[in-house]
Amino acid sequence: MATLQKIKGFADLFGAECTKFTHLETLAREIFSRYGFEEVRLPLLEKTELFARSIGTETDVVQKEMYTFADRKDRSLTLRPEATAGMLRSYIENKLYAAATLHKFFTFGPMFRYERPQKGRMRQFHQLDVEILGTHAPEADAELILMLNNFLTALGLKSITLELNSLGCKKCRTVFHEKLHAFLDSTEKEKLCPDCIRRSTTNPLRVLDCKQVQCKELLTDAPRISGNLCPECEEHFAKVRAILDEASLPYTLNHLLVRGLDYYQRTTFEFVSGEIGSQSAVAGGGRYDGLIQNLGGPDIAAIGFACGMERLALLMPEVETPPPDFYLAILDEKGLKKGLQIGEQLRQNGLCGEVSFEAKSLKSQMRQANKTNARFTVLLGEDELQKGIVLVKNMADGSQQQAKIEELPKLLQNKSA
Ligand code: HAM
Repeated sequence: MATLQKIKGFADLFGAECTKFTHLETLAREIFSRYGFEEVRLPLLEKTELFARSIGTETDVVQKEMYTFADRKDRSLTLRPEATAGMLRSYIENKLYAAATLHKFFTFGPMFRYERPQKGRMRQFHQLDVEILGTHAPEADAELILMLNNFLTALGLKSITLELNSLGCKKCRTVFHEKLHAFLDSTEKEKLCPDCIRRSTTNPLRVLDCKQVQCKELLTDAPRISGNLCPECEEHFAKVRAILDEASLPYTLNHLLVRGLDYYQRTTFEFVSGEIGSQSAVAGGGRYDGLIQNLGGPDIAAIGFACGMERLALLMPEVETPPPDFYLAILDEKGLKKGLQIGEQLRQNGLCGEVSFEAKSLKSQMRQANKTNARFTVLLGEDELQKGIVLVKNMADGSQQQAKIEELPKLLQNKSA
């Protein structure tokens, strides 16, 4: 029978890569909670309408990339392609805004997008997602970016750069759209890629960040949103930049950074790396002030970001895990029960290690002990069992000593060995 295989673009995570993911989550919890963020866990499956209404019907994500299917009652459901929409659905549905004006949430987990798999791009990928709900303050934008930078630095990521832009609010966007339309009408529009020809009427802002060479060339002289912000948006963006400047966090202003999801307003940002090929964004986010209201909630401002865990794992150094304290080798059948008891006692004393489930020769037990990389091998043979002692081998210097069983926890707790 043919062996069953995983779905294309989906991955099994184990060994060093799984350790990296665990480390990412641990570090994220530690750093984000220092800033007052609270962890939430959200469903993977939502009604399709949620994503169409939030991400935007004209986006690639909604048009081409969603895992959408009908359930047994013929309701259209979608595996979440990102976490912001579900977070807001939950915030509105549970009326969390009534309890406090400001909420800071983070969540981790798998997301699903039917994209062409390649290095750093999967169909099931994982995000660390962070959102601040309930403030217009530019200080929130800046602190969020600073926190993200601290997290990426603590991970040991080097050569990443911050790109920053402001997409303005509805008011300045309307004026900008007119200018962009006028510009597009004055160019050889038919030379744009088919997607951009469609976008030029449905979603002109997205034309700006098309990666196709012919579109890029045609848009070199396109008007820039940065020169068309209303005074309030201009001031907001200036304040964000001033705080980042004060904190000496370098950034590049990228007026083409419009992002792939339609809900953004004002500040948008990405951290990019030159070391992972074309899928260079390791984290991205921005402000989405009108979205909560669009989804049926009150008019509440918000901002957030998400990091791609696969991309972070590609860039971060290996995570070193401390070696176990002991391997308890059983040399005689009669020692199996006692060995298990000793193991339990050692773990109750905070020590880590494994106990052999089978009695085996000294040679094979030592081989196993070496494999686990334990600091000490504890040997329990017939002789030791009778005398109520064990033989302890320090694996670093090869020295051996006999010890009473009750002395064992103290001996193994000696971390200098
Ligand atoms: P996004 O830019 O679509 O934003 O995704 C955020 C990050 O997820 C990307 O920068 C990338 O690292 C990772 N990512 C996206 N697609 C894939 C993929 N197919 N394979 C591997 N990694 C991927 C959002 O999702 C927004 N919800 C972020 C946000 C939160 N904005 C405000 N709040």
